[in-house]
Amino acid sequence: MEKRAQLYEGKAKKVYATDDPEIVIVSYKDDATAFDGKKKGTIQGKGSINNRMTNHLMKMLSEHGIPTHLIEELSDRETAVRKVRIVPLEVIVRNISAGHFASRYGVPEGIVFDDPVVEFSYKNDELHDPLLNDDHAVALKLASRDEIARIRKMALQINGLLKATLSEAGVTLVDFKLEFGKTSDGTLVLADEISPDTCRFWDSQTGEKLDKDRFRRDLGGVEDAYIEMRRRILGE
Ligand code: TMP
Ligand code: ASP
Repeated sequence: MEKRAQLYEGKAKKVYATDDPEIVIVSYKDDATAFDGKKKGTIQGKGSINNRMTNHLMKMLSEHGIPTHLIEELSDRETAVRKVRIVPLEVIVRNISAGHFASRYGVPEGIVFDDPVVEFSYKNDELHDPLLNDDHAVALKLASRDEIARIRKMALQINGLLKATLSEAGVTLVDFKLEFGKTSDGTLVLADEISPDTCRFWDSQTGEKLDKDRFRRDLGGVEDAYIEMRRRILGE
């Protein structure tokens, strides 16, 4: 497979074409942003950690029947994935109150929910990713009713699988964001990443934050948190 022209540059990743029209290469950057890109910085080594952690977790998910875009890790920072059209929904699953859930509804962080909460946002930076429900998403033609039902089911399955894997590593999965995509034949697959950028991870014993909230909230020890998550999940 041959790397060709850059197709797209996002806040944390670049995407390159290949000689195969069905395959693209994602390249993970060390760049970090928060608050719709208003806060900018670098997290040294993040690109490699996020690339390898995402692939490790997506491989585990696909072994449990979740279809993903993953094809093959090419290097520390680069992975070949199936080319998809991203469904413009940020699919968030929450097990414990934190972040925007806590601020939006005026509750403290750390409330453990009886059942996971699935939430959708419209993936649109200019509009600041507004929260929406199934009817809004269908009205806006972001996805069909059936696709939304399948996305919700997969998101809950993924939550169960990730929670189990992380709990073995002494990590509580507080919440996370997923993105799904459609391949040229219309297959719905998990895309994007699963990393400390897109999940909240709390140490199960101490509650210490081991994710991008250290960057968002200027808590210090940002690189160390990513390295600690690499050690817990990848064992190195
Ligand atoms: P929130 O509490 O800020 O809505 O975030 C919920 C989860 O989604 C959290 O694990 C971080 C992740 N997330 C992203 O991956 N990208 C984003 O742009 C935002 C706002 C959150
Ligand atoms: N990366 C997102 C942004 O810059 C936000 C976040 O992860 O907090 O908008």
